[in-house]
Amino acid sequence: MPITGHATTEGTTRYRERLQQEAVAANHFRLEQNLWLSSLGIGTYLGKPDAETDARYTESVARAVELGANVVDTAANYRFQRSERSIGAALQVLVESKGIARDEVVVCTKGGYIPFDTDPPAGQEGVRRYIEETFIRTGVAELSDIAAGSHCMTPKYLAHQIEQSLRNMRLAAIDVYYIHNPETQLGVVSPAEFETRLRAAFGQLEQSVADGKIKNYGVATWNGFRLAPSERGYHSLERMHELAREAGGDGHHFRFVQLPFNLAMPEALTQSNQTFQGASVSLLEAARALGVSVVASASILQGKVARGLSEEIREPLGSLASDALTAIQFTRSTPGITTALVGMSRRAHVEENLQLARLDPARPDQYQRLFSTGAG
Ligand SMILES: NC(=O)c1ccc[n+]([C@@H]2O[C@H](COP(=O)([O-])OP(=O)(O)OC[C@H]3O[C@@H](n4cnc5c(N)ncnc54)[C@H](OP(=O)(O)O)[C@@H]3O)[C@@H](O)[C@H]2O)c1
Repeated sequence: MPITGHATTEGTTRYRERLQQEAVAANHFRLEQNLWLSSLGIGTYLGKPDAETDARYTESVARAVELGANVVDTAANYRFQRSERSIGAALQVLVESKGIARDEVVVCTKGGYIPFDTDPPAGQEGVRRYIEETFIRTGVAELSDIAAGSHCMTPKYLAHQIEQSLRNMRLAAIDVYYIHNPETQLGVVSPAEFETRLRAAFGQLEQSVADGKIKNYGVATWNGFRLAPSERGYHSLERMHELAREAGGDGHHFRFVQLPFNLAMPEALTQSNQTFQGASVSLLEAARALGVSVVASASILQGKVARGLSEEIREPLGSLASDALTAIQFTRSTPGITTALVGMSRRAHVEENLQLARLDPARPDQYQRLFSTGAG
């Protein structure tokens, strides 16, 4: 039996109040889209596709939720669906024996990349046969729907993938469903065709909301929101928002975007590559104006945080014990970032990083000091 329900205002308020009694900082949670979301969330992208890593992710996700991270992020293709299944196992434990209710946790996943199942097929021929048997012969997709040999976002495919993700995570509903790296399609189709496909995809996601399978949707990108408007693969958030309105009317459910944001990739804050009503603005400004919540991926540069961050960076962020903590503190303190996702397959990393839940993010005046040039 799937776990019924979804994240709610009431459930996430209850979670926040309980965690605050355990000394979690008041500003660790942010109210967005009528949900209290933690400023640090757990991601599940990296790691080997093996049983040992599955078990570690299950333990890490459960521990992260216990310690104050109620945003859990994954994708169908992460570790060949194993990450979604590890999350399913963690949620089962949390609900059945750790006193956590389904309505307290914001579960986010993505569809777009064709996911293998548990293990990769052997060789090019194995991949071809897997796609043929799983998606083409079953009528889920046509070969011409698949961009760059790996990416599909047709309505039928997304509906199929939502069902698969629900099964993998043993859930009745997903809180946030992202189209995964839609910019992949822009490598092979024209901008006009891309808009046609995205509008149709949003139409399906509105239908999935109406059916109670997902509660909100959005896009999770890598390059799209960080590029200049003239570059291939660029996404305009304002235009996407308009497409969602065309698909779902004024009450559409395009409410979240995800992009990398860290000390080495601060473009969402620093580049005015977006527009809002004719003015050039940053992605964070455009999102705020449009009522879209922003989630940061790769908060510690996929684990490659430079050793020995300088005092000019460490001190305004609180002189924390490790560069990983400093990097996460930077991302979670950025005005306009709701949740900093950190991939954590190790319980030790969960316990280290969740120390931040007990600290407030850096104050705006402290944060601003990072950007003072000091030039004389
Ligand atoms: N396009 C997209 O949609 C997209 C792209 C990238 C990421 N994401 C999402 O964002 C999440 C976060 O990004 P990410 O996982 O790519 O990168 P990340 O969070 O920047 O880094 C994760 C890596 O850092 C390690 N780590 C965690 N805490 C640490 C600590 N205290 N000290 C040293 N190392 C530490 C992890 O190790 P262990 O695993 O060993 O704990 C893992 O190898 C992903 O998991 C995914 O959910 C989305």
